[in-house]
Amino acid sequence: MHETLAGLLNRPLSIGGRPVANRLWLSPMAGLGHVAYRQVLDHFGSCGLAFTEMCAARALPTENRRVSTVFRWRDEELDRLVCQIAGPGPQELVPAARRVEAEGFFGVDINMGCSVSGIIKKGAGAALLRDHDAALAAAEAVREAVSIPVFVKFRTGWSPDVAPAVALARRFESAGVDCLVFHPRVAPDKRTRPPVRDHIRAVAEAVSIPVFGNGDVVTPGDCLDMLTATGCDGVSVGRMAIAKPWLFAEWTGGTAPGENAFMEYALRLADALDEHFDPIRALKRFKLFTVYFAANFTFGHSLQSRFLAAKSMDDVRAAARSLLVPGLRLNSRPNMNMHSI
Ligand SMILES: Cc1cc2nc3c(=O)[nH]c(=O)nc-3n(C[C@H](O)[C@H](O)[C@H](O)COP(=O)(O)O)c2cc1C
Repeated sequence: MHETLAGLLNRPLSIGGRPVANRLWLSPMAGLGHVAYRQVLDHFGSCGLAFTEMCAARALPTENRRVSTVFRWRDEELDRLVCQIAGPGPQELVPAARRVEAEGFFGVDINMGCSVSGIIKKGAGAALLRDHDAALAAAEAVREAVSIPVFVKFRTGWSPDVAPAVALARRFESAGVDCLVFHPRVAPDKRTRPPVRDHIRAVAEAVSIPVFGNGDVVTPGDCLDMLTATGCDGVSVGRMAIAKPWLFAEWTGGTAPGENAFMEYALRLADALDEHFDPIRALKRFKLFTVYFAANFTFGHSLQSRFLAAKSMDDVRAAARSLLVPGLRLNSRPNMNMHSI
């Protein structure tokens, strides 16, 4: 199964004329997909493309990458890093996209998927899907403003009927969007109901630009199922990439993790967070990650409490060294109840 999966994920692919290494990508995740995590991800064998956390479009034109907590990167990752921007319309999105292009990112991704209330209230994220003409105007304006690849990440919309999402996908394609990442859930939905795979198929069949499927891919079998059952062009993985960053290397046929992988991961993440963020934010970000990481283990809740009790990154390191020893009992599938927090 692994060979079939690797074969599918390693098929050549270009987005907007630019080749990408493989068809397994890191989803944008606020608070989790930051520069420090991506540095650790690179160590374990990286992905075809990585997406940044969402960046508020309005702030981007004047954002200082040395100070910003989200608009921050390592120069060596730029050629496979897509910057996600969130905003209510062309006025905010266009200057942000221009900045993203000027900095040398692989591409720019418009967030039309997030249904968190703070984002919706600002008219951004999935709010754009309430008015398809507005969503299209945003995509058209960004497309006209930059020549790097333009991505749209979107979801089914505000009703369970997929037909409007399919029609919108066609309009995005006509507007010159290069790639769609589709999460088949309605808004608002906190990932409590399963994503509807048939909806990915409907979108993938409707357009000829690449469509990446997203949602609840946990095991290599899930990934293979998503590719074969929906005919999507590739898969974007969110929470599981935080739980096991080596999955990109493993599923694309690279090396499997060693015995000490979990301890190494926690220690490397602690170091990278210390390198990129101030101590308070670094510790806060480690704690955000803990829940996804701990879900791997049968004793996940107690492991999580130990990390959450840490008062400093040195406490985190001590907990990692004493708890994450080889031979730990792993869940065959991570405890997804923990993931939905
Ligand atoms: C903590 C967290 C933060 C997220 N932040 C973003 C975001 O900034 N932009 C976005 O488009 N999606 C965001 N998402 C959604 C993910 O990109 C993805 O669509 C979702 O988690 C489903 O994929 P998964 O089942 O592989 O995790 C976030 C998800 C989580 C769990």
